[in-house]
Amino acid sequence: MKLVRTSAPGKCILFGEHAVVYNHPAIAMAISLKSTCEIQECTKDKLQIILRNYNQSFEFSNLNDLVLNFPSQYNQIRFCLENLQKNFNLNLENIKITIASSLFPNSGLGSSASIAVALVSAMNEYYKLNLEREKISDIAFEMEKIVHGAPSGIDNTICTFGNMIYYETGKFRNLIIPHELKFLVSYTNTEHNTKEAIDKIKHLKNKNPKQTELLLNKIGEITREAEKELLNGNLSRIGKLMNRNQNLLTTLEVSNKAISEITTLALKKGAFGSKLTGAGLGGCVITLGKESVLNNLSSLLKTKGFKSFIINIDREGVNIEQ
Ligand code: PMV
Repeated sequence: MKLVRTSAPGKCILFGEHAVVYNHPAIAMAISLKSTCEIQECTKDKLQIILRNYNQSFEFSNLNDLVLNFPSQYNQIRFCLENLQKNFNLNLENIKITIASSLFPNSGLGSSASIAVALVSAMNEYYKLNLEREKISDIAFEMEKIVHGAPSGIDNTICTFGNMIYYETGKFRNLIIPHELKFLVSYTNTEHNTKEAIDKIKHLKNKNPKQTELLLNKIGEITREAEKELLNGNLSRIGKLMNRNQNLLTTLEVSNKAISEITTLALKKGAFGSKLTGAGLGGCVITLGKESVLNNLSSLLKTKGFKSFIINIDREGVNIEQ
């Protein structure tokens, strides 16, 4: 029986979230926490979809049946299957698609983009569609539009190509970091709402334009400086820049109690730097430090009810595992 399995990394924003909305740069990194997609040939004439993280399993007699009956919260998956079926005239009636992710959903780790990239790539491999990585990323971007409305394109790009990117006014450039960087990703136990956080800053900017612009400019400067320090591998400088970025995000009111509790503990325990990642008001915190410090911090956070994982840069991007 034919079987294909792919994986795609998640991401975190290291510097520049929110300021990037106002045309300042941001730096994002692919991370070693991943999503996977498996496509397996089946004997029955059915199209099965198993969503492990939601404990959900669906069985359709064909694509039309799926179009009519798949819950609308999975419209991005429907779009992907319909789009590929239409363009390549595929027979989707005897496969089982299983999707799983080790990324916390709605927490700034790019789980939806990572799943999208893994799915498109698995379809590409199973049906031998010969799609280039660029095309896989483009289809995932269309899927992201269904989930997020107006995404920047950071997530599908980084989940497809891996490594690190510097993003400014719609343009990406790869940053190849020659050394290892270890971060602790900690979950605040609350999903975040990107739109709500963006609206909060928009409101602040309307109320107090000069001061808000000054803060966003400062984040832009930090991101530019961070690029140099990341290439140099100066961990202590990178950490200081993360802390300054976090302070500015706090002033912009997108931090919260759990984020502040985690970042404060991280610095107290000897980390180089700690900040929220992504939209804020929940989601995840990233902490840079020596591995021993991160291990110690992770155990401490566990006693306070916060889950965390040590992550590296993912350098491969989307990958065919089987
Ligand atoms: O938390 P996320 O992955 O949705 O990231 C949001 C980052 C913002 O800068 C706040 C918005 C954006 O589109 O870049």
